[in-house]
Amino acid sequence: MCGIFGMIGKSNVVPNVLGGIEGLEYRGYDSAGIGYIEKNKVKVIKQVGEIKNLKTEVGRVNPVSFNCVAHTRWATHGKPNKTNAHPFVSTNKDFCLVHNGIIENYAELKKQLNCKFLSETDSEVILKLIEKYYCENMLETLVKVSKLLKGSYALAIISSKEPDKLFVSKMVSPCVVGISADGTKVCSDINGIGKVDYSYVLENNNFAVLTVDGIKIYNEKLEQVKLKKIKVEKSDINNKGKFDYFMQKEIYEIPNSVNNTVNLYQTFEQFEKVLPKTIVKKTKNIIIVGCGTAYHAGLMGRKIFEQNLNINIKNELASEFIYSKFVPPKNTLMIFVSQSGETADTLKALKIAKQYGLKTIAITNVKNSSISFIADYCFYTLAGAEVAVASTKAYVSQLSMFYLLASYFKEVIMDKIGLVESTANNLKNISKQINLTKFNILANNVANDIYLSQSLYMIGRNFDYVTALESSLKLKEISYIHSEAYASGELKHGTISLIDNNTFVFAFLTEKDLLEKSLSNVNEVISRGGKVILLTQYNLKSDNVYKLIKLNNIDEFYMPIVVIVIMQLIAFHVSVLKKLNPDKPRSLAKSVTVE
Ligand code: F6R
Repeated sequence: MCGIFGMIGKSNVVPNVLGGIEGLEYRGYDSAGIGYIEKNKVKVIKQVGEIKNLKTEVGRVNPVSFNCVAHTRWATHGKPNKTNAHPFVSTNKDFCLVHNGIIENYAELKKQLNCKFLSETDSEVILKLIEKYYCENMLETLVKVSKLLKGSYALAIISSKEPDKLFVSKMVSPCVVGISADGTKVCSDINGIGKVDYSYVLENNNFAVLTVDGIKIYNEKLEQVKLKKIKVEKSDINNKGKFDYFMQKEIYEIPNSVNNTVNLYQTFEQFEKVLPKTIVKKTKNIIIVGCGTAYHAGLMGRKIFEQNLNINIKNELASEFIYSKFVPPKNTLMIFVSQSGETADTLKALKIAKQYGLKTIAITNVKNSSISFIADYCFYTLAGAEVAVASTKAYVSQLSMFYLLASYFKEVIMDKIGLVESTANNLKNISKQINLTKFNILANNVANDIYLSQSLYMIGRNFDYVTALESSLKLKEISYIHSEAYASGELKHGTISLIDNNTFVFAFLTEKDLLEKSLSNVNEVISRGGKVILLTQYNLKSDNVYKLIKLNNIDEFYMPIVVIVIMQLIAFHVSVLKKLNPDKPRSLAKSVTVE
């Protein structure tokens, strides 16, 4: 959350920096600002709201600068107004700073500093400390100040005292610096750094000094450090293609995302290269950890594994696991699922697992993300950059990864040859069943039925229950309709009292063995007047249901991959019908890098 971007170059970098920050808008869009050096003076332009507002103002002022930093905000401390927007400028007007992260001891530091603060933010305290301790050398000052800070930060700072340098420092929050022919850049997201020859992913307590033609990186002892050069793959993070919204584009990319992920792991050997057989054989327990949609992918992952294997499996929400007193037994393997690979809670849980001495696997969509460096073994979903705040193609790719990983485990443990390959083939066939044109018409139709609802329910058993959970989250986050997912059998234990003639209930019935029981639950809802939208591939009597969505008759084991696409499209259309922007739901941001 919050995006920072900065560049120092040979010519006017303001357009590059605005383009850079635009690519990070999914990290927050409460307010935005740029800080730049013009004629050796620090200047700032800020605006409330989306970056387009900032761009209009920048167009009016028309600044020319070789050294510029920018920020797009997701408010953590203080309202989303102009005063709380970044960058912040020191009282003496010499320093300008943008910050991503949270300074946990800001209140204590504010008290000690005992000076006037203009904003309600935690970030301003860093600037005041810089002003207080500045020793005519920003690098040394930054090292000194960083020792006083507790929490997480990626900082980019410019100064009229050292106008040819852009200073960067990193603790916990992701931060990348890169070199291009036009200059050097800093960015809070490896996918957002744009065209660079190569980049460096900074580590905790790294301090970087960017000049027009080079980058020097130091540790807290001010010794120069050498980091691995990383080639950044081209990312079309700013391109919606023929679509009006990123979310729509990303849903349409699902079949490719599945195929690309499968192509990377379609043989036993491809798995073995990442995760040695010995580790699989030793595993007696698995704990799958994630947040939000990634947690739901893990819930589905558990069900997929249990279908195949006799291993104890648990799911944990990352934000709960980090405070749990439960110490997993030694032969536990922990799997961490994260699209961005930067989610603060998931990273903290991963570090705790490592402290316990457990083996850890990451499933992530972003190469060179923090999680990929920390976990012992890393599997990549190849969904491509996901920009819309609501996760869609990444979720389906995560499910694909679980189908493949579970078959690798089964192949190793049960000594059955060819399981990975047959799962890969099945997944490729399933991806062909995702008929987006048909699904889109259907989803639009259902969206028209439900978009004026205040509240609705989604029910299912087993795999279908997880689909209900994820579908419900999707609808809530981008349409602001209250939606509750329930295990079908649980409804009668309390929540059914909320069902009346106006209540829509989505019922997922894709598992043959559970049809009878699930149908009874559907009837319980209908008896109370509920309007049931039933999704099934089976020929069921549907006289009393409000709407029947007949699914293709595919292998039901893979149905979660298909059904969720329809539900993502329904959520999308509801959001559009309500004249909302599905890409930028209120109060949310992608990549939650604060706890
Ligand atoms: C919902 C959504 C979030 C994320 C969650 C974890 O659509 O996108 O719930 O799934 O914030 O993010 P990652 O997967 O990046 O760790």
